[in-house]
Amino acid sequence: MATEYDINKLAALFAGARRITCLSGAGMSTESGIPDYRSSKGLYNTLTSEQVFDIARFRRQPELFYSVIGPLYLSILKAQPNAGHVALAQLADRFGKELVIATQNIDGLHQKAGSRVVHEVHGTMDTLSCQDCGSQALAKSFLNELGKGEVLRHRCGGVFKPDITFFGEQLPAAAFSASLDAMADADLVLVLGTSLQVHPAASLPDARRDGCPLLIVNRTPTAMDDKADMVFHDSIGELLPQVLAQMDHGAQPGSQRGQRSDYHSALFNNNPTHLQRKNDL
Ligand code: OAD
Repeated sequence: MATEYDINKLAALFAGARRITCLSGAGMSTESGIPDYRSSKGLYNTLTSEQVFDIARFRRQPELFYSVIGPLYLSILKAQPNAGHVALAQLADRFGKELVIATQNIDGLHQKAGSRVVHEVHGTMDTLSCQDCGSQALAKSFLNELGKGEVLRHRCGGVFKPDITFFGEQLPAAAFSASLDAMADADLVLVLGTSLQVHPAASLPDARRDGCPLLIVNRTPTAMDDKADMVFHDSIGELLPQVLAQMDHGAQPGSQRGQRSDYHSALFNNNPTHLQRKNDL
């Protein structure tokens, strides 16, 4: 758990950064009531397996996808942002950070919280495309059918596929390339709520510049903990608001304290005992 000392360090780090790029995953939205995929209570350990998002399987058997995911889809469409989404949006709105979010999430909650630059690298569940004629429709026009787990179809008879990236499909090229650029431009990279097991999204933080600090907040260890400058195995919705509250008190941009030196000492001072790196755990 992050200590007060850690929160102070994080507040100074955030305050000193101008361009912050974040890669978020399903753990970002669990505090909004949406299950993640690989935790013990996640989708793949309870309801289903990765197969449900396999494109070849969807084409053969769309009823499998809709019967399992339809009712969940409905609850995701109704979900509201949590304190973590709101804190991120506030980094831009209240603290003037150039915040770019590359998200693997398809739930639209970053945008609902007010974040403006969000690249959806696994697409979105808000829209659907007909597999036969290519027509698009809004998922919210099919709430009844989704609730009942029915296969959604266009009036031409073709099956609607949600505009999310299934295994075996290409990622949306523009979103992925903008995310890579944002990683390369960042002076602080945050990885929030992802196990980093699905590529190429999981490799995005590798595009950061040499020397750009990497902070991971994830309840359980990730594939990149050993490359990070700081790792907190905490809840995003608890940790981020504390950091912002501390920025309000002591480490606001423009405060009398030297921003840049706060930033660097936060990372590179000689006493990093409270930073939870994988090797320290
Ligand atoms: P995972 O389920 O693999 O990882 C989510 C991580 O979030 C887990 O390691 C949890 O420990 C952590 N977590 C959960 N709640 C948290 C919280 N409140 N605070 C901090 N950490 C928390 O989900 P992703 O990494 O997002 O793709 O999965 C990547 C992709 O795999 C998804 O986009 C999806 C899936 O298959 C497709 O369907 C194409």
